[in-house]
Amino acid sequence: MTAVELDLFSPAAVADPYAVFDHLRDTDPVHWSPRYRSWIVTRHADVSAALRDARFSSDRISPFVDAKLSGPDADPALRQTFAVLADWMVFKDPPDHTRLRRLLRTAFTPRSVAALEPRVRALSDELLDAVAGAGRADLVGSYAYPLTAAVIAEMLGVPAADRDLFKGWSDSISALVFAGLGTPERYERAADGMLELRDYLGDLAERATRDPGDDLVSALVQARDDDDSLSHDEVISTGVLLLFAGHETTTNLIGNGLLALLQHPDQRALLESGEVGIGPAIEEFLRYDGPAKTVVRQMAVDVELGGQVLRAGQRVFLCPPSANRDPAVFARPGELDLTRRENPHVGFGFGLHYCLGAPLARLEAGVAIPAVLDRLPGLELDPAAELSWAPVLLSRGLTGLPVRWRS
Ligand code: HEM
Repeated sequence: MTAVELDLFSPAAVADPYAVFDHLRDTDPVHWSPRYRSWIVTRHADVSAALRDARFSSDRISPFVDAKLSGPDADPALRQTFAVLADWMVFKDPPDHTRLRRLLRTAFTPRSVAALEPRVRALSDELLDAVAGAGRADLVGSYAYPLTAAVIAEMLGVPAADRDLFKGWSDSISALVFAGLGTPERYERAADGMLELRDYLGDLAERATRDPGDDLVSALVQARDDDDSLSHDEVISTGVLLLFAGHETTTNLIGNGLLALLQHPDQRALLESGEVGIGPAIEEFLRYDGPAKTVVRQMAVDVELGGQVLRAGQRVFLCPPSANRDPAVFARPGELDLTRRENPHVGFGFGLHYCLGAPLARLEAGVAIPAVLDRLPGLELDPAAELSWAPVLLSRGLTGLPVRWRS
C-alpha cells in the first residue's frame, strides 16, 4: 500500500473496505498515510492496545479550535460550532471525560434501557404498520432511521411534533463530524444546522429547568443546578452528542445487520428457527460489518506501536472493522457465523470511551431486526435496486436498504 497511495474514499474501498484493511493488516499494520497525514492501525492487538492507552488522546477538537479558529479572522459561527463539539465526552480525556461520563452512566445501564423495550417495540410496530401493505420499502429511510431517531429524541424529552426538525440538524452534524478535520470553509453550511440545534436544546433545557420531566435533558439540568458538576454549555453539548451518537450508528447496525441476513440465507434460517438468539447474532453483526469504521486519536507523546514510532501530535485512525476480521483472533474472519462463541469484537470501541450507548443499541437492534423478519414475509433484497454505502471515514452504513416482500 506504500507504492499506490491508500485511498479510503475510492468507490471500491467505500463499497468494500475489508479488502483494503486485509491488505494493510498483512503488509503494513501500522501504516503512515501521507494522504490523511495519519497512522492507520489495523491489527486487533494494536487497536485494542491503543484504545486502552491514555497516551492515545481523545482530546483532538480543542487543539484544532486553538490552532485554526481562535484568531481574529476566524468565523464566529464556526468557532461556536466547534465549541459544542469540544465539550463532547468522546473528545475529552480524564478528568473531564470521567466527570461527563459519570453523570450519564446510570441512564444507559442494561437495566435502565430494558425499561424502554415496550416503547421501542411500539415504535417499531408503528413504522412497520405504515409500510407492511406496500410490499417494498427502503428499510433504512423508512424504518431504521426514524425508529432510532424517535427513541433518542424521546429519551431526551423532545416533543414528538419536533422530531422531524432533527433530521436536517443531524445531517449537519454528520457532515461536520464524519468529514474529519480539514479546512474550516467546508463546514460553514453545516455550522448553521449545529447552531440551530444548539439553540433548540437551549430552549429545551430552559423548559426542563422550569418544569423538569423524567428525561435526559432534565437529568442533565439537575446535575448542572445541584452541584455544578456540569456547565450550561455542557448540558447542551451533551444533548447534541446523545442525539447524534444515539441514532446514526444504530441505524447502521440495523441496516448492515439486515443486509448480512438477506445475503446469508443459511444464517437467517438459524435466527428464524430460534437455533441462535438475537443477542449473539447482534454481536456477530457488529463484528462482521459493524457501523464504526474508524476511531480517531491524537498522540499525546511519542509511542512505539507495531515497530513504528508514533510522534506526539500525530493523528491515528484505529480501524475496528479490520481488528474485527483479524485472523489472529477470529477463525474464518470473513464469514458471517451467528454461532460464533468467542466474539471479542471492538465494534463499540474498548477501554475508557467504550460506547456508553451499547446497551441501548443492542436493545434497539434486538427489537428492530426480528420484528422485520416477523412482519414482512418473504423478505428479500429488491433485485432492481443497487446498494450503495455512504462515502465517509468514521462510519459504515448503507444509503438505503431497498427490499421487497409478499404483502
Ligand atoms: C450500533 C450502534 C453504536 C455503535 C457501533 C457505537 C460505537 C461507538 C464507539 C466505537 C465509541 C467509542 C469512540 C471512541 O473511543 O472514541 C462510542 C462512544 C460513545 N457512544 Fe456509541 N455507538 C453506538 C450507539 C450508541 C448509542 C445508541 C448511544 C447513546 C444514545 C451512544 C453513545 C455514545 C457515547 C456518549 C460515546 C462516548 C463515550 C465516551 O467517550 O466515554 N452510542 N460509540
